[in-house]
Amino acid sequence: MLQIRYPQRRDSGFYECQVSTTPPIGHSMYLSVVEPITIIIGEPDMYIYKGSTINLTCVVKHSPEPPPAIYWTHNSQEINYDSPRGGVSVITEKGDVTTSYLLIQRANTPDSGKYTCNPSNANLKTVVVHVLNGEHPAAIQYGGQLRLQYPVSVFLLSVVVTLIGS
Ligand SMILES: *[C@@H]1O[C@H](CO)[C@@H](O)[C@H](O)[C@H]1NC(C)=O
Repeated sequence: MLQIRYPQRRDSGFYECQVSTTPPIGHSMYLSVVEPITIIIGEPDMYIYKGSTINLTCVVKHSPEPPPAIYWTHNSQEINYDSPRGGVSVITEKGDVTTSYLLIQRANTPDSGKYTCNPSNANLKTVVVHVLNGEHPAAIQYGGQLRLQYPVSVFLLSVVVTLIGS
């Protein structure tokens, strides 16, 4: 039995077990060491107009199994989805690639700050949200590329969608 403790990516490759008969017999297999990665679309900075919906998308890739949980924090405080503020919800879709969407409706100045996506089995990632003063009819969300975002009229409650992958 071959055991590799604390595997690193460089341990990936073909491993062969040989028996020293004549001729030698063996069996080889490929070991792939993966490292989960976490991305927040639009990081490190997102600029959002006051009154629009903040949509933070956190993606976890290369995880041998979906993260059992993904926690979101705002300025190091765990986000309370039942706060009097209202309009804060999270949707997590688990699979080969797990995606968690944090939606904050009617963005206001106190919603600015550091948001962290913390999957229970992968590195955390942080994005800084800047809520810009001044209303904009069709709120523009800027994060690397410009895109239009329409106001979400449906009030989303905390919904967890679980799609079992493979
Ligand atoms: C949030 O953004 C993602 C893409 O980053 C998009 O697929 C999703 O539909 C958006 N959700 C809402 C409610 O706007």
